[in-house]
Amino acid sequence: MDQINFDQTHEKERKMSIQESIRIVPKDGIALIEFDLVGEKVNKFSTPVMVRFKEVLEEVARGGFQAAVIVSRKPSIFIAGADIDEIRVMKKAEDFKGAISKAHEIFGFIESMKIPVIAAVNGACMGGGCEMILACDYRLASDDPSTKIGLPEVKLGIIPGFGGCVRLPRVIGYQAALDIIVKGGAVDSRKAERLGLVDGVYHPSLLEARALDFAREVASKGKRRKAYKPKGAMMAAMELFPARKFVIGKWKSGTLEQTSGHYPAPLKAIDVVDQTYGMSDQARALQIELEAFCEVAVTDVSKNLINVFFLMESVKKKTGVTSDVKAKPVKAIGVLGAGTMGGGIAYVAADRGIDVRLKDINYGAVALGLRHAREIWDKLVKRKKIDRYDLNRKMAKVTGGLDFAGFGQLDVVVEAIVEDMNIKKKVIGETAGHCKPDCIIATNTSSLSVTEMAKGHPRPENFVGMHFFNPVHKMPLVEVIRGEKSSDEAVATIFELSKKMGKLPVVVKDGPGFLVNRILVPYLIEAAWLLQDGMSIETVDRRYKNEFGMPMGPFTLMDEIGIDVCIKVSKIFHDSLGDRIMIPPVMKKLAENKERLGKKSRKGFYLYDERGKSQGVDQSVYTELGLGSPSDRLSADETIRRGVFPMINEAALALIEEHVVETPDEVDLGMITGTGFPPFRGGLLRYADSVGAKLICDELEVLAGKYGERFKPCTPLKNLAKTDRKFYA
Ligand SMILES: NC(=O)c1ccc[n+]([C@@H]2O[C@H](COP(=O)([O-])OP(=O)(O)OC[C@H]3O[C@@H](n4cnc5c(N)ncnc54)[C@H](O)[C@@H]3O)[C@@H](O)[C@H]2O)c1
Repeated sequence: MDQINFDQTHEKERKMSIQESIRIVPKDGIALIEFDLVGEKVNKFSTPVMVRFKEVLEEVARGGFQAAVIVSRKPSIFIAGADIDEIRVMKKAEDFKGAISKAHEIFGFIESMKIPVIAAVNGACMGGGCEMILACDYRLASDDPSTKIGLPEVKLGIIPGFGGCVRLPRVIGYQAALDIIVKGGAVDSRKAERLGLVDGVYHPSLLEARALDFAREVASKGKRRKAYKPKGAMMAAMELFPARKFVIGKWKSGTLEQTSGHYPAPLKAIDVVDQTYGMSDQARALQIELEAFCEVAVTDVSKNLINVFFLMESVKKKTGVTSDVKAKPVKAIGVLGAGTMGGGIAYVAADRGIDVRLKDINYGAVALGLRHAREIWDKLVKRKKIDRYDLNRKMAKVTGGLDFAGFGQLDVVVEAIVEDMNIKKKVIGETAGHCKPDCIIATNTSSLSVTEMAKGHPRPENFVGMHFFNPVHKMPLVEVIRGEKSSDEAVATIFELSKKMGKLPVVVKDGPGFLVNRILVPYLIEAAWLLQDGMSIETVDRRYKNEFGMPMGPFTLMDEIGIDVCIKVSKIFHDSLGDRIMIPPVMKKLAENKERLGKKSRKGFYLYDERGKSQGVDQSVYTELGLGSPSDRLSADETIRRGVFPMINEAALALIEEHVVETPDEVDLGMITGTGFPPFRGGLLRYADSVGAKLICDELEVLAGKYGERFKPCTPLKNLAKTDRKFYA
């Protein structure tokens, strides 16, 4: 009985809070509709919210108002979109059809209301939020940096399904609409105004008042269905049928080339725009969009991309520790070493409002580090992402020098100097002497032991690893490495700092290559074995990129990293991981040529022009390495399995036996964000589960028989195979 009462009370409270989540506030004849989901950080369209929204709209329609204005009461969110939790649990096309038809009905109701409806957008207005404002008669926006309007659906393997593919092209033209829909993009309010997506842009503090005045101004004019008007003769010509077919065809071929056909959603969205643009029967157009949505929503690709989305979201809620120890606030950091990594770290921190003191041992390096940061901000100014004022403000956050001036005030110091244990230990000890006792020092080492390095620190509990990936401003992953003596406070602080810097941190145990490089290196070395065995560089790269979906092939990646670095790291890994890392003779031979270092020397497996653009494979590499003409005799399947299955083997050891991380999620997050492992496959271990441990083990045994012990499946993987279990239980 108690339980029933509890459930009833709970249900009553839930209804009350939905009720209060969307309110009507009458304002001298105008209905101000406020979105403020109770108990949620963001406004989103779940089924109960949609039902409530419909009730509110009907009440407004009956209420004798002259116009309605829709606003959000969340500080930097207008409406974030549909509720992805709901999408995640839907499995069948029928489930999607029900939810989408409801949205069509409600947004159609907005269009059919007799009074004008104005959306006043402050904050993120994405997906379903954007589709809702497209059904409004007018849209105003604030110029707050948080205001972004977009349709990111394709990033989840779906297409805009609440009318976005139909209505957006009608408001801003099919070309600009495709640019947003196919890329899953968003525009700021200024661009939205230029595109005709919003009718005015105002300071956030003026937006609501302006929207109410605007509502009064347009109330007498009644409804407005604004149709897109091309600007100029050229744009008008592009609207004509043959030109439109040509442009849409280009979008299709370009998208197909870019995605190698692995992502069906953007292609499906182009089809919908193609079929529905200019269609007078909007209901029919929306039906076409709905059918297309259902086709892509039930695919494994969409399920995997939605899982990846949740994987990334889950980091926001984590602290990096299991205890309730809190991160210390970080306002100012020091960066030791102003080279490739130090310069990048300083840029990212300053960009996020953290004061940075950059220290090197020569002025040239400091100047280069500062210039590097400035160049990235300059590019953002050119692309109108930030203005000059922002640039100056951000630049003022970074200062540099050769001494420890100011180090006494820092909360954290990130070390990014040469990769040498003795030098690092010495510099860390010296730095600790200039800092507050509780200042945390974090090393960006990519291969050295954090536990060993901590011996250089007088208080090793205040020492951890903070492993960024290159280029720092582009790569989202940070491995937070817990040394044996690192305190929870140090780990939590570096975890939180990484998030503050816009990164996705994963806590990993100290050990050779930590998590991501340890899994990646066997794959890179296997590419060299494939070369040794008669495969061509182009074929191997093409198969991994186009057929498997890696962002680039392994030879291109080795050129990016530097062949010398790859060889050095492989040797370190061979020493610590043993025969799983066998260096092929071609790699040893490669080490002899000090000019073939990869992109940085304009010559690696590929040749590069002075701007770093690839000029194709350097065919002389085969003779230099004593190889004959490549035969490409191996099948695509074998080529790919030889590289990918050893990664799975290494991941099984790292996760199940050595607990480098605790969950398969962390492996997948690390591999996607640190190496670009294809998100549509859900991550390395989701992919492994889709293939099955038994098949992987059997194939590794076959490969071990053919090519050697490096392929031998490890015990944890064999155990999974034997008991028919998966990484994700
Ligand atoms: N480059 C990468 O791809 C990458 C990726 C992840 C991690 N890392 C790690 O980051 C660290 C730095 O690598 P990098 O590629 O930026 O090297 P880099 O050679 O570009 O820069 C190192 C900088 O450190 C400076 N330096 C040397 N001794 C110093 C000292 N005592 N005090 C202050 N500055 C000093 C040098 O003058 C140089 O400017 C290394 O530990 C490396 O393993 C590198």
